[in-house]
Amino acid sequence: MQKKYLDESKGVQLGTWWDDISMIRGWSGEKLGYTTQKPEALLERIIKASSNENSIVADFFMGSGTTGAVAERLGRRWIMSDIGKPAITNYSSDIDEISIELDNYVLLSPDALPLDTENREKLQGVMAREPLALIEYWSVDPDYDGETFRSKWQDYRGNTENDDDPFRVVKETRILAPKVKGKRKICVKAVDVFGFESVVVEVLDAE
Ligand SMILES: C[S@@+](CC[C@H](N)C(=O)[O-])C[C@H]1O[C@@H](n2cnc3c(N)ncnc32)[C@H](O)[C@@H]1O
Repeated sequence: MQKKYLDESKGVQLGTWWDDISMIRGWSGEKLGYTTQKPEALLERIIKASSNENSIVADFFMGSGTTGAVAERLGRRWIMSDIGKPAITNYSSDIDEISIELDNYVLLSPDALPLDTENREKLQGVMAREPLALIEYWSVDPDYDGETFRSKWQDYRGNTENDDDPFRVVKETRILAPKVKGKRKICVKAVDVFGFESVVVEVLDAE
């Protein structure tokens, strides 16, 4: 007679038909309201079978982000992306949405510019009416370390990706950035049509 002990048994190899993991029900605590969300148990099986602790798990169509949440719980590092904002904001406990608006631009020494009378008057008109129209390019580092500026977002005249006006930059933007502990330093750099660069640094208290 042969004795078999359950805790020593290697079990049965997993097949291709998995019917032991149920769908997420309406009342489930896992449910985030994302239509294509998958059960955590399903992701846990896939991640355990295909990676080790400290591996990098990537899901470039993260949707509800369950892959990243389970990868984190299982000690994996992870990279998640999604084209859709609703997907990213599901991760809002880890991500801040930062809103930045330019409210003015002051050209410091207009008299030093080599302009004839006619163009000087035109410039004075733009400075009075619409000073932000003098901005050629601006960019934002939402996690400025005080030394190296790393642009995470930018707009420039001629770029119609952020709006359909090729003669002006947009005046506001919203950026998603990983939450920080303590204070967040945001650096905004602008270059005007004459090539003068200006820099503004704002420090925000994290919530
Ligand atoms: C089927 S859903 C993801 C399901 C996800 N595994 C879950 O558990 O929720 C597909 C996702 O792919 C995203 N997507 C579609 N085209 C994309 C693209 N070109 N780049 C990045 N994400 C994209 C959609 O926004 C959507 O969130």
